[in-house]
Amino acid sequence: MRLRKKKNLDERLELVSSLLINKNENGKIILSEVFPGMPSESQVDLEIGCGKGSFAIAKTALHPERRYLAVEKISDVVIIALEKAVEEHKPNLRFLISDASVLPEILEAKSIDTLFINFCDPWPKARHHKRRLTYRSFLESYKKFLKPGGKIEFKTDNRDLFDFSVEEFKACGYKIENLTYDLHSSEFANENIMTEYEKNFSEKGFKINKLVARFE
Ligand SMILES: C[S@@+](CC[C@H](N)C(=O)[O-])C[C@H]1O[C@@H](n2cnc3c(N)ncnc32)[C@H](O)[C@@H]1O
Repeated sequence: MRLRKKKNLDERLELVSSLLINKNENGKIILSEVFPGMPSESQVDLEIGCGKGSFAIAKTALHPERRYLAVEKISDVVIIALEKAVEEHKPNLRFLISDASVLPEILEAKSIDTLFINFCDPWPKARHHKRRLTYRSFLESYKKFLKPGGKIEFKTDNRDLFDFSVEEFKACGYKIENLTYDLHSSEFANENIMTEYEKNFSEKGFKINKLVARFE
């Protein structure tokens, strides 16, 4: 995602800093500290590559009883999500500005119920496939923080990435459920929340692929 550098980014980030996750002195994220007002047994969802945040904000409105961590590596993008979220005062939504590759090291083990990967970068060249967030080394690393029985919900318009990812999920022992090559015409359409990329691509006539992969 290419964006022009935002003006006054540091000042703007400072204004929304209450929504940003701080690691503790050991460099870890402790959920009870991130969501002090929320019951420790409440579900925890994680989104990697949240972009401008519309999916995260809609999800947390729909499920105020669940805790939600939204991760995005580009500050110029996530500032838009943060400024939208701060207006809505959501106690169950917090953001981390970071590359996803560090998550297995900084999240509590077996703490995440659902991981959302929406329209991740497709990295079309074969020599870049290792960078795909559904490449097997990533899928293996997610097992560290997923709860047993936890799941990954993955959406993309890119059929090549989707087919590749199905094989990667299988190779890593995930059980695939609810696979569709046309989400918006499927039985799962009613419960679907569209992301920014999803709106954009579906308006251009692209079909949206989705699967749920369970870690047992
Ligand atoms: C194609 S955009 C999709 C944004 C949003 N999920 C949507 O569907 O509208 C991919 C987003 O993932 C972020 N991203 C890509 N790789 C990442 C990584 N390793 N860690 C964190 N964020 C990442 C990018 O910066 C970008 O904002």
